[in-house]
Amino acid sequence: MKHTLLSNGRHIAYRSDGALDGYPLVLLHGFCEDATVWDGFIPFLKKEPVVRVNLPGFGGSDLALNPGMDVYADAVCAVVNDLSIEKCVLIGHSMGGYTALEFAEKYPERLVGLGLFHSHPFEDSPERKEARHRGIEMLQSGKRDLYVAQLFPGLFAESFGKTNPEVINALINKGKRQSPEAIAAALEGMILRKNHLETLQNINCPAQFIFGSEDAIATPEQGLKAAVLPNIADVHVLPGVGHMGMFEAPEKCAAIVQQFWEFCAT
Ligand code: MLT
Repeated sequence: MKHTLLSNGRHIAYRSDGALDGYPLVLLHGFCEDATVWDGFIPFLKKEPVVRVNLPGFGGSDLALNPGMDVYADAVCAVVNDLSIEKCVLIGHSMGGYTALEFAEKYPERLVGLGLFHSHPFEDSPERKEARHRGIEMLQSGKRDLYVAQLFPGLFAESFGKTNPEVINALINKGKRQSPEAIAAALEGMILRKNHLETLQNINCPAQFIFGSEDAIATPEQGLKAAVLPNIADVHVLPGVGHMGMFEAPEKCAAIVQQFWEFCAT
């Protein structure tokens, strides 16, 4: 794992595989996870270079000074700068997608492709904000392990969860190693985020959307309303998949991302 420093002295941990020529694929993980969520997905990609970023507070990256998807986007930019990557294809899973949208707004010149992997550009509903505030209270009262144990089972399609409990348990165990402060900051950052419909409307590179038919968080119904906004969109709804396609259908998801990456990079 390599590190880069933000201007405020905080470290961002990332992994870069392959010689850095062409347009690298940069992958962002979701909430309460780290860059290792891509470990089972990457072997199905047919090319490099691939960069995996640990967002602030997660997977060995320092906690940011303030919460916010814009702060996460700056951390991604620091990694891209550290590697002297001029332009990349940026794919964000769920909260990583919220970050990727902030990046697209702040640094449009650095993108040749943007991918929302079980993600969307809408802000939180009042109910969702309320649930996140309850989560922050749990974390602040020392219930991190309980919070994490409740989080992951609901992210998978029911049938996958029944047959692959070890995948969920591994994520829970890793989640229990993330600091409560980092998890709470991510919740706060998601509460604070704005909608990015205009970002998608104005985007000057192709955009990819991957949805799972069984995803209760980034539903295809909601996501398809956003997928009509960019000039060039590549849209996939995966039958029987929940919110975690990189685990539930890694080969298929890798093929879809690979095709988009090649399309954007030529
Ligand atoms: C994620 O997987 O990053 C979260 O489910 C995103 C969210 O809670 O909106």
